[in-house]
Amino acid sequence: MIKIVTINNKGGVGKTTLSAYIGYVLGMNDKKVLLMDLDPQGNLSMFFDKEQISLDKWMSKNPILINDKMHLIPSTSDFANLENQLLNSVDGTYFLKEKVLNRYEKYFDVCILDTAPNLGILNRNALVAADKAFIPVHADLFSMSGLNSINGLIDQIKHRFNADIKREVLLNCFEPNRKRNKIVLEHLDSCDYFNDIIIPLKTSIKNDMFSGEVSLKDQDLYNIFFSIVNNLICNGELINKELTNVN
Ligand SMILES: Nc1ncnc2c1ncn2[C@@H]1O[C@H](COP(=O)(O)OP(=O)(O)O)[C@@H](O)[C@H]1O
Ligand SMILES: [Mg+2]
Repeated sequence: MIKIVTINNKGGVGKTTLSAYIGYVLGMNDKKVLLMDLDPQGNLSMFFDKEQISLDKWMSKNPILINDKMHLIPSTSDFANLENQLLNSVDGTYFLKEKVLNRYEKYFDVCILDTAPNLGILNRNALVAADKAFIPVHADLFSMSGLNSINGLIDQIKHRFNADIKREVLLNCFEPNRKRNKIVLEHLDSCDYFNDIIIPLKTSIKNDMFSGEVSLKDQDLYNIFFSIVNNLICNGELINKELTNVN
């Protein structure tokens, strides 16, 4: 099971959107997907019209069925309580990897961890468990400064806990005709972890939030997410089907 975390300590940059879309596209390409909502605000759970659960129920770790390819472990508003317990535990940084995700290894191809906008212990757990961090950013200078702090944390995690973690910066909500977007793109060109993955600002994405499904009828949009999934998660093994065949 490949583990992907969508992470950025800045809110509203597209972590939840990215989690939902890549989950969907993986499912459309016959991968078994486990989505885990680690944000106490529960936006990914709401996206799929699922209620938050109690911490006790969360601890029982039974994923909910979304469709025949996707399962979700919803969030709990009680993550603060779990975080306190983790902070007081000697091996609290390995909890997610060793006590939670281990049990799903043989049932799912990919697990996507959607995180809250902070650099707390639960997010550090997610980075310790993950094979790859997807870092969505917006084309503005605040996003650029946030990128330094998330990269700093990943450097530390890589050094101390998870030497193999990879990372990828994705530029989200890009508007090619806006001047400041172009300036940020030039700035990002010098970032080691940005490999020209750009998701445009699309009204259809905005409208999807809380609709229970993603609308990938737009072939260009599907192609962008397909190439993210194929190149960054599936080692190029997927065959791009015509969207009409997979809808
Ligand atoms: N490429 C995009 N085009 C248009 N709207 C987007 C795009 N990506 C995200 N959004 C919208 O931006 C808002 C914040 O996105 P979200 O995924 O919730 O961010 P985060 O999880 O980082 O807080 C949501 O309303 C979402 O629909
Ligand atoms: Mg979110």
